[in-house]
Amino acid sequence: VNHLLGIKYLNKDDIKLIFETADHFKEVINRPIKKVPSLRDITIANLFFENSTRTKLSFELAEKRLSADVINFSASQSSVKKGETLIDTVNNILSMKVDMVVMRHPNPGASVFLSQHVNARIINAGDGAHEHPTQALLDSYSIRERLGEVKGKKVVIVGDILHSRVALSNIFALQLQGAEVMVCGPKTLLPKYIDKLGVKVETNLLKALNWCDVANMLRVQNERMEVNYFPSTREYTQQYGVTMDVLNSLKKEITIMHPGPINRGVEITSEVADSNQAIILNQVENGVAVRMAIIYLLASKIKQ
Ligand code: CP
Repeated sequence: VNHLLGIKYLNKDDIKLIFETADHFKEVINRPIKKVPSLRDITIANLFFENSTRTKLSFELAEKRLSADVINFSASQSSVKKGETLIDTVNNILSMKVDMVVMRHPNPGASVFLSQHVNARIINAGDGAHEHPTQALLDSYSIRERLGEVKGKKVVIVGDILHSRVALSNIFALQLQGAEVMVCGPKTLLPKYIDKLGVKVETNLLKALNWCDVANMLRVQNERMEVNYFPSTREYTQQYGVTMDVLNSLKKEITIMHPGPINRGVEITSEVADSNQAIILNQVENGVAVRMAIIYLLASKIKQ
């Protein structure tokens, strides 16, 4: 594997290697000196054509912890605004001797397109509603950390599956590792091709939560909707919002995940987000170690 474009291009041994490498880096970043000199000779460009808090900062920190040289590019402050194309933009950056590109883009397939047209290692940091592979890897890594392993676990992804790159990458990653996967949400927010993905489908939140070990709660992505979808936010929260009363009514204690950003009081209440059952900030913490592992493993191929 020369790039990380999506989970669909990985196999279960790739994921195992990433997690074992991340275990090492997690130990490193908990030392008093959090840095290793491994990538002193590597330059990485972070290209963000879409907003981000967690992914952007997590990649930058991971790169700096590995001692890589880092440049950051935000499309909204760039010559993209004057009409420069994606390939021209990236080739100009690469001519400054950049080895690796981390890219977030609103268009599905943008990372694959880039990998076919420029000479650098590409990491997909989210492409439209397609894939968000590093998010899915840090999510599985966090399940492994909390529950011991991913294999055999029952994971439900709740919410706006239709517009979610996190959902698709998680489905692929969890299935590769032998987890059972369910999606739960209103029919209007489930993609037409859902039956082809090999997942269970449930529209009743309580049934889904009573089935699962882990619930990954997604945000409704209003910014990707061309029309106002049914249900309204108020109806969505009534039917799919997770409160402490909902959690306490279940037969067993489940683990709550969320990729962020959270709409507190919509898909989960603050009490749930901040409870001991939630591993939301553990996910963010693990993101740095998992991204260090991915960058380190791809950079080792540049050096070959
Ligand atoms: N989880 C995630 O991708 O968050 P950001 O959009 O803030 O990067």
